[in-house]
Amino acid sequence: MSNKEYSKYFVKPSIKDARKRKVEDTVVLDFNEYFNLKGFGKGKTYRIETYGCQANEADSEKIRGILEALEFTQSETLEHADIILLNTCAIRENAENRVFGELGRLKKFKRNNPNMILGVCGCMPQEEKVVNKILEQVHHVDLVFGTHNIYKLPEYLETVILSKERVIEVFSEQGSIIENMPKIRENNRKAWVNIMYGCDEFCTYCIVPYTRGKERSRDKNHIITEVKDLIKEGYKEVTLLGQNVNSYGRDFKDKSYKFAQLLEELQKLPIERIRFTTSHPKDFDLETVKVIATGGNIMPYIHLPVQSGSNEILKRMNRKYTKESYMQLVNWIYEYIPNASLTTDIIVGFPGETEEQFNMTIELVKECRFEGAYTFVYSSREGTPAASYEDKLSLEDKKKRLYKLNEVVNDGYLIGNERFANKEVKVLVDGVSKNNDEILAGYTENQKLVNFRGPVELIGEIVKVKITDVKTWSLTGDLIE
Ligand code: SAH
Ligand code: SF4
Ligand code: F3S
Repeated sequence: MSNKEYSKYFVKPSIKDARKRKVEDTVVLDFNEYFNLKGFGKGKTYRIETYGCQANEADSEKIRGILEALEFTQSETLEHADIILLNTCAIRENAENRVFGELGRLKKFKRNNPNMILGVCGCMPQEEKVVNKILEQVHHVDLVFGTHNIYKLPEYLETVILSKERVIEVFSEQGSIIENMPKIRENNRKAWVNIMYGCDEFCTYCIVPYTRGKERSRDKNHIITEVKDLIKEGYKEVTLLGQNVNSYGRDFKDKSYKFAQLLEELQKLPIERIRFTTSHPKDFDLETVKVIATGGNIMPYIHLPVQSGSNEILKRMNRKYTKESYMQLVNWIYEYIPNASLTTDIIVGFPGETEEQFNMTIELVKECRFEGAYTFVYSSREGTPAASYEDKLSLEDKKKRLYKLNEVVNDGYLIGNERFANKEVKVLVDGVSKNNDEILAGYTENQKLVNFRGPVELIGEIVKVKITDVKTWSLTGDLIE
């Protein structure tokens, strides 16, 4: 599309503006007041590729919702789609490289079908350098928008399709809350429910506070209504989403209402399973531990990113807790919720991390009895404070640390699964197993993957399974009739 004119939409992101946190109240908008062009997509198809975290997945469900409200339908193949959108993630360099690789691959589709619209949205466009690279090098991209302006997709498409002009519009602002966005959910039993957007933590390695704006909590009534609607539609599990769910409500000026209270209220609703992610150790209070301990539909599974076992590194990461306060929290969790499964996130090779500091992380992992962890090699993100920290360790040495850590982490996976040997567990059946379509697969309350033989009619149901075999990554069992 190098010969294409630019439209009236041409706004590039600015990390300087994205850094600002204003004291103004969050603006709440109703999508229905913005939505027009119904029927615009009739006869046309789309395809979305999703690269990021649960928040990114939840956004893709909204984008699909908007496209289908415009009457676009999902294409069976990428190749024949009229619109392809890449909903991207900026968290690490390799996530970005995958997207640029895919853009290269899609070039030939575009050559065969010049009317195909190719768009890039999500977190990557929130970075100046990404938009500049697209402008300079990736001329076959027609549409670029960010995380704050998904609701404007109908007018962008109108411009790109009818006027054949290029749209680049990315806002670097604190962000608003858009209620009543339509959604096409990926799963008809398990749903994401945003309880807040953005992040105000500014961990020094992390790009998210710049790509997603200020932390802003949704009104509890909107959340409760969404969960009630999901129950009516037959949903059995909701996962409450926020970058730091434990700070839910911190931005309410007119009332005091916190995550523990939200959990308590949702617990009373007739939904079978409530999960939440991500928890931040700094704000996870004893009150919340006690609410989770009352059980019922609140699942005994907590993902509690620790990042490092060294206080010095935690301080330079701006995590605002210590190894000791983290351990205190973990001890409370095991004391009040003895059946809890804990998982975590860890970064190795943060700038300046010594061998000794890395070993502190290994020790912490052993002490905490994690039953799983996402482990990452530190990736420098332009515009974040840590990008300017001195970083001498070679990538090879960082990878060695990662392998060493993963060995300890994998022991934890197996130990976590072994506790369910010969036990009866409840499984929400997701579908057939990846490797064998005569086997059903689903997750237990503790978020353990279970495979077992059973009729496909059980998909979407919660069933009892007796565990007969334990492996590192999954459990096998027999259906209890
Ligand atoms: N809000 C969540 C996690 C968001 S990102 C939290 O605070 O835990 C998910 C994980 O990606 C983080 O927990 C961290 O372990 C990892 N991560 C974030 N930025 C990174 C970077 N620059 N390099 C490597 N890993 C990173
Ligand atoms: Fe990133 Fe930290 Fe916010 Fe998580 S809490 S999204 S790691 S800045
Ligand atoms: Fe990635 Fe954005 Fe999520 S950077 S991890 S998609 S918030």
